[in-house]
Parts: sequence; C-alpha cells; structure tokens
Amino acid sequence: MTAASRTAATPSLDALWMPFTANKAYKARPRLLVSAKDMHYRSDDGREILDGTAGLWCVNAGHCRQPIIDAMMQAASTLDYAPAFQMGHPLMFALAERLAEVLPEGMDRVFFSGSGSESVDSALKIALAYHQARGEPDRCLFVGRQRGYHGVGFGGISVGGIETNRKTFAKQLLPHIDHLPHTHDLSRQAFSKGQPEWGGHLADALEEMVAKHGAERIAAVIVEPLAGSTGVLIPPVGYLQRLRELCTKHGILLIFDEVITGFGRVGAPFAAQAFGVTPDILTVAKGLTNAAVPMGATCVHTKIYDEVVQSTPRGIELFHGYTYSGHPLSAAAALATLQVYQSEGLLTRAATMGPVWEAALHGLRDAPHVIDVRNIGLVGGIELSPRDGVAGARGFDVFTNAFHEQDALIRVTGDIIALSPPLIINEEQIHELVGKVRRALEATA
Ligand SMILES: Cc1ncc(COP(=O)(O)O)c(C=O)c1O
Repeated sequence: MTAASRTAATPSLDALWMPFTANKAYKARPRLLVSAKDMHYRSDDGREILDGTAGLWCVNAGHCRQPIIDAMMQAASTLDYAPAFQMGHPLMFALAERLAEVLPEGMDRVFFSGSGSESVDSALKIALAYHQARGEPDRCLFVGRQRGYHGVGFGGISVGGIETNRKTFAKQLLPHIDHLPHTHDLSRQAFSKGQPEWGGHLADALEEMVAKHGAERIAAVIVEPLAGSTGVLIPPVGYLQRLRELCTKHGILLIFDEVITGFGRVGAPFAAQAFGVTPDILTVAKGLTNAAVPMGATCVHTKIYDEVVQSTPRGIELFHGYTYSGHPLSAAAALATLQVYQSEGLLTRAATMGPVWEAALHGLRDAPHVIDVRNIGLVGGIELSPRDGVAGARGFDVFTNAFHEQDALIRVTGDIIALSPPLIINEEQIHELVGKVRRALEATA
C-alpha cells in the first residue's frame, strides 16, 4: 500500500502492534494482502503475488480451499462452541481418531491446543507428567538445540535456541535447560542436496549432557527434525537416528516439533516417517487446519497417555488444557483439511516434486550473493553472504524487492531465504518462483 493508494476503506495502521515485525519500517512502507486463492495472494494494490512460503509454512493445500470453507461454515452454524473441560463434541474425537491414522505407528493419543507454541508447552508438561507418573519426578531437565524454534511461550523460548527471542526475557526462563549444538556448518555442508553427509555425529553431544547432568535428571530432548525458522537446517544423515538411540538408552523422551514439517512438507505425512525415526511426542499446528483457523496438537505414544492416565486413581489426570482445545470450528477445518490432503495425495507430493524443486533451486548457485543452496521435500534454503557489518540487511532487501517488484512472497531469516510453497505448486510455478528469486537477488546490492 502506498500513501496514494490508501482509500477511506483502508484502516490506519497506528493502533496495531505487529508481531515479529519491524513496526516502524512496516508502517512506513506497508505490505497488505487482501485475498488469496490456491497459489496466490492478492495485494491491496491489485497485484497477484506468488506464494513461495505457504503463508508461514502453513497453507499446505493452497489458499481458500472450498471443502475446508464449507466444513467451517457448517460447523460454525451447527455448534459454535462446547466447553473443552469435562465435556466433548463428536468432531474433536473424530479428528483425534483420524489424526492417529496418519501419525507414526504407536502415536495415537492426541491433546489439542490452539497453536504451535501451545502444543510445545503441552508437550513439555506431558513429559514431566509422564516421568512423575513413572516415579521419576527428578527427571525435569529439558534439552533443546541451538537455533531451535519452538514458539514463544516461556517453555518454548527456554528450550528454543534463538538468542534474540530470549534475551529480553532471559531473567525468567525455565531453570533446568541445556542445548545441543546445532548441525549447520557450511564449510562441510554447502550445496548439499537433501540430507548433508556430514554432521550425524553431532547427536553424540547428548552423551556429554548425560555425563554432565546425569541421565536420571533429563526428562526430554526436543528438536525440530528440520529446523525451519532459523533458516532451513536439514538433519545430517544418521543424526536423528542417533538421537533416538541415545534417548532410548537413557530413558529420555524424544520430542519432535513438527509444527512446520507436519502434513507433507518433507515428502511423508510427518518428518518422523520421512526420516524413519519415531519420537515419543510429536507437536503439530499450522498445516493441521491448512491455517484456515488456529489449532495445535500434541500427539503422544500410547504408553505416555496410559502411564499418566492409569497412575491417577480418580479425577483429573493432567491439570492442563485450553478453552479452545478441540474447538468445533478448528476440528471441522482439520477434518476437511486431512480429507483434501488425502484425496489430492498432498502428504507425499513433496517427494514426487522433490527432484524438480531440487534442480530448480540449485540453479541459483551462480546468482549474486549466494553462498549455499539446500533443499529437502518442498523446502529450500538459500543462504546469502551478509553485507559488511550489517547481518540481515541484504536478506531483508531481497524480501522487499521480491514482494514489491517481483510479485512473490518469500521468507527471510537474517540472510537466509527460506522457501516452502503450498504443496500444490506445479512445475511451471516452481520455475516461476525461482526466476523471481533470481531477479530479486540480481536487483539487490
Ligand atoms: C517448529 C515450530 N514450533 C513452534 C512454532 C510456533 O507456532 P505458533 O506460531 O503457532 O505458536 C513454530 C512457528 O513457526 C515452529 O516453526
């Protein structure tokens, strides 16, 4: 929106405090989206914008899909809300059952929430409850990973490994936390296609933590199977397998945060299946409802549910939950979304399109500023050399050029471009998107 294009119908931007946004810069030069369909947004100045990020890694089936809209309208006019505590409604049970069918084997108990952050906090609490139920209440330390993103709750930022997200709140983070090293090393991994060969051994850092803290104190390890928010860090070959082995060996729960990798992003319904590693707890949100309405879920292995529920002789077993856990509108949207994913083969489409995606992305190797290209499923990371002394400035300029000049929505985190288009993207659109990124790179100093 430019000052000239603002009309009486355009609201003032002043009253809104925007999340994770440079408010002053945005309000000086706004980017407004007013509608969307399938692979495209429309901006307030009437341009069709190619969506290279599925919104925020969430609109996996493409925008404004009619079956999801219909299901939500039906739900909203039938049952607006039912209390989430000590009451239920059929859609929430149907969704839990349906989800269990696509989750890794054995993970068939589901706790609903309203977002990825809530699903992570629920996972951490469930891990504590499980160890308490088993008679090991001192297992209360969480191990996260540097450069991990687990949302913005105090639990999530404590186990998360992003300094900027923690520093303002550092005096009040959770107390018993440690972090594994991240797995990103361009001197050994640059221009990897799929999983990097180097780095599987980095999981052994968990042994050092066991030596330092004692296995009997560690409740859970939480990682994103593929770290998205800090710039597409793809797990090295063997890394997740090794983490799984070590967790099992030491009685530590393994939590996969699949808020972005869930629902087909890396070529299987979940990254757990794509990488052949089953965690004990798995968090989802975003693609669960195709982002048409907020919803999160914490999915657990049956043994965890049984342990917590059976160890309580009577009454409430877990003192945790949200007013909107399993909300009828969200449950209806999620059921319809799963139906769309299934009928259109979207949960495995990233595997089919992977080779085309990989070849197109790696064609950017010779584009200006590019120091790495990496990919897996329908995810791509393009790392740029930073401008002298101003980390992130070049990345941000590429992002704004892509939006304003190339009609493409891309995402940048610092100087890394992260691409994750809707899973319905076709071959022509892949080339179109990559062409737009190239032009944005060429236009940026
Ligand atoms: C891996 C991961 N976990 C958690 C979250 C937080 O989700 P939400 O923003 O819905 O709270 C995100 C959001 O991007 C994420 O990528």
